[in-house]
Amino acid sequence: MNAPTLQGLNIQAPAYVKNAKLIAWVAEMAALCKPAKIHWCDGSQEEYDQLCQQLVDAGTFKKLNPAKRPGSYLACSDPSDVARVEDRTFICSEKKEDAGPTNNWMAPNEMRATLQPLFDGCMAGRTMYVVPFSMGPLGSPIAHVGVELSDSAYVAANMKIMTRMGRAVYDVIGTDGDFVPCMHTVGAPLAAGQKDATSWPCNAKTKYIVHYPETREIWSYGSGYGGNALLGKKCLALRIASKMGKDQGWLAEHMLILGVTSPAGKKYHVAAAFPSACGKTNFSMLVPPQAFDGWKVTTIGDDIAWIKPQADGSLRAINPEAGYFGVAPGTNHHTNPNCMASLDKNVIFTNVALTDDGDVWWEGMEKDTGVMPAHLIDWQGQDWTPQIAKDTGAKAAHPNARFTVAATNNPALDAAWDDPAGVKIDAFIFGGRRSTTVPLVTEARNWTEGVYMAATMGSETTAAAFGAQGVVRRDPFAMLPFMGYNMSHYFQHWLDLGARISAQGAQLPRIFTTNWFRKNAEGKFVWPGYGDNMRVLKWMIDRIEGSAQGHETAFGIAPQYAEINWTGLEFTPAQFDSVTSIDKAAWAEELKLHTAHFEQLAQGLPQELLATKALLEKRLAA
Ligand code: GTP
Ligand code: SPV
Ligand code: MN
Repeated sequence: MNAPTLQGLNIQAPAYVKNAKLIAWVAEMAALCKPAKIHWCDGSQEEYDQLCQQLVDAGTFKKLNPAKRPGSYLACSDPSDVARVEDRTFICSEKKEDAGPTNNWMAPNEMRATLQPLFDGCMAGRTMYVVPFSMGPLGSPIAHVGVELSDSAYVAANMKIMTRMGRAVYDVIGTDGDFVPCMHTVGAPLAAGQKDATSWPCNAKTKYIVHYPETREIWSYGSGYGGNALLGKKCLALRIASKMGKDQGWLAEHMLILGVTSPAGKKYHVAAAFPSACGKTNFSMLVPPQAFDGWKVTTIGDDIAWIKPQADGSLRAINPEAGYFGVAPGTNHHTNPNCMASLDKNVIFTNVALTDDGDVWWEGMEKDTGVMPAHLIDWQGQDWTPQIAKDTGAKAAHPNARFTVAATNNPALDAAWDDPAGVKIDAFIFGGRRSTTVPLVTEARNWTEGVYMAATMGSETTAAAFGAQGVVRRDPFAMLPFMGYNMSHYFQHWLDLGARISAQGAQLPRIFTTNWFRKNAEGKFVWPGYGDNMRVLKWMIDRIEGSAQGHETAFGIAPQYAEINWTGLEFTPAQFDSVTSIDKAAWAEELKLHTAHFEQLAQGLPQELLATKALLEKRLAA
């Protein structure tokens, strides 16, 4: 029997692929994108090694010195393709109001008509990789399967680390199982005989990151970077999954998940939502300071949590990912030793600098060595010296430079990280990056107040997204760039979930807010952060156990100075006051921003949140 072909292209699926819908979809997409070749990924180590070798041959990867960084590679992207593109990200629900005022929207038909000519022939001259992946443990009732079709070998290699990718996924979907179809192209077709002019093909002019939440499809055009291209992550596990969660009664959140175990062996699980580049990876791998001898923090996830209510009213969470796509700059043995240990081997680095001995470097590493390297090749391929940096301000690594590494590289990985049943959540934390106004830590007096705090969270923008930096914007639940539907309906979903669990007579998780980022008059962070965040985490546990009384503030219950373990840290009551004080004038301004935020979200905004705001205003006036 001859293999089925399409204008000379072999579209025969391997014998172990038995899903009729998948086979038909791949054929249809091949007809549209017109690749030169199709590669069905099996997820094997041999395949990964071949992909990496191919990327080395193409100049996309540089193999790092195996004596320094075994099994590791450096990729440097096009300077125009370095972060998520929020202004090019679309939620295409049938009705505009279902996308809500915080999302870019276009009618599905109109978007399909826009994308059709772009995808027509978009993979010419390239290989189309069929990348089957499971978000969550294979076959887990909480997991969901996606298949990404991409013309980027870099994407296929990264997906192998970031997800459970490969042949076993075809078994999970069998002959008629469901999957989320994820189309991705770098948007740089090659004419016959044409070779890539660059080692990072992308489309500098046109980018679209498109979601159809109702039909559960993803179409991404023009970028090869991070969340724009690794479609299991933000596109599926947050934007599409948030909509699934709304429809099915669960939560898809931009949260790390950690376990914290006391010397007596009592364990709690905490899920924390901080906006992009605001410390999730760091917090999830926290190494407690010496004063907390015997305490242990273990990582379940560093970026995304899928949380499902159980019959007994508990909330159980899994990390749908299998790897970390983390921020490199600022990471060192002082800020995050577990992360540094995770990066010893088998890592893909993107947009960091190359040392003269074939290793990697980024800003912050000088804190480990005490000196700046004398010479580097920066992320744009230019010579870098401390003098050049001084003269021109050139960064060796891009501020959004990242590493891709398997979770199993993490020495602090929690034993239950891969448990299909997930872990029971005892507390939620919401924390933005605010140089003023917002205190170090408070606890919400009840679920509704916690939802209010999360819904009104503000944060200074970071290099994790293309655009202006350091501007305060509302980032409700750290989900602003990742919501797959109307933000106000999402607030309602959280309130409904809390009401349902309470009605069952079950205990709801506590809700806390944090801000590690208050600055002094000199513009320096006052709170030491990183491992010292354990001091705050311990206070939260004391609150759960009833041993810390705290005190009432307008913005929730805050710790008394004496309730925090200060052993091994010089931190005066005056310093404590400067990170915990609630300045009435600043809060009056802050509340004006809450008002404007709620006005923007008026359509469908839960009335309870307005009532909570009125209470807050009354407390501030008292
Ligand atoms: P995404 O992967 O973009 O979602 O980011 P993330 O939330 O995982 O952030 P990450 O932990 O990678 O931290 C980002 C930056 O914040 C790094 O430069 C860290 O050094 C810095 N950072 C993390 N934790 C703290 C902290 O407690 N205090 C201060 N001052 N900086 C921190
Ligand atoms: C974020 O921006 O929150 C990230 C990085 O985790 S990316 O995967 O590029 O979205
Ligand atoms: Mn993130």
